[in-house]
Amino acid sequence: MRRFLIGGNWKLNKGIIETSEFATYLLKKDLNINNIDVFIAPPFTSIPKALEVFANSTISIGAQNMFWEEKGAYTGEISPKFLKELGVQWVIIGHSERRAIFGETDEWVRKKLNMALHLGLKVVICIGETEEEREEGKEKEVVENQLKGAIEGVEFDASMISIAYEPIWAIGTGKTAKPSDAEEMHNLIRELLGEKGDKVRIIYGGSVKVHNAEELLLQENIDGALIGGASLDYESFAEILKIAGEI
Ligand code: 13P
Repeated sequence: MRRFLIGGNWKLNKGIIETSEFATYLLKKDLNINNIDVFIAPPFTSIPKALEVFANSTISIGAQNMFWEEKGAYTGEISPKFLKELGVQWVIIGHSERRAIFGETDEWVRKKLNMALHLGLKVVICIGETEEEREEGKEKEVVENQLKGAIEGVEFDASMISIAYEPIWAIGTGKTAKPSDAEEMHNLIRELLGEKGDKVRIIYGGSVKVHNAEELLLQENIDGALIGGASLDYESFAEILKIAGEI
């Protein structure tokens, strides 16, 4: 039995004041999340505050990106070793916004994955097709190539890696994948993972909201969610956590 994993990807939202307010309100709710894993990935500059305000809760803190080296002449980059030193437990790698806007490649994703695993950071690897690729019927090929590009040749413990299937056309658009389509893709990803497939959590991302979370999470191969917009509002995030905790 795989535990649900729910991640809140705040993207470039919430400085330290909003982070603190969010935690105060969220933690006042009766969350009942002992049977699921939850992390929030704030912007880097809000991470220390998030670690402080969630310290006495079961909510862990993640980063939205990292570099593949621990240190050196890499102006502006973020060291995974320093994230670990802060107390960060999770890192999101290969998000479609990073691939599209910042030119992140499968090779970068693989290098980051190797470094994160070396340091004991848990990784969420994001993969997913564009609308055009889906219309052309290429979505499975694209997802397969991204998955292989990220993990081929990488030794990993299944508990350290999760895959987030995030169809790009569903991110921030309000268009969610049909639960049956998402399930089909999650099933394919699980098969591609081979013998480790049973243990790796495959979570869905792309306009997950209070109204569609249950239907998605009830799919056999959907093991959680990576939530953008709805994780910024403590009421909706709390509601989604409750839904996951009760399934
Ligand atoms: P939305 O939930 O805003 O569609 O974002 C999804 C996402 O990109 C999570 O990583």
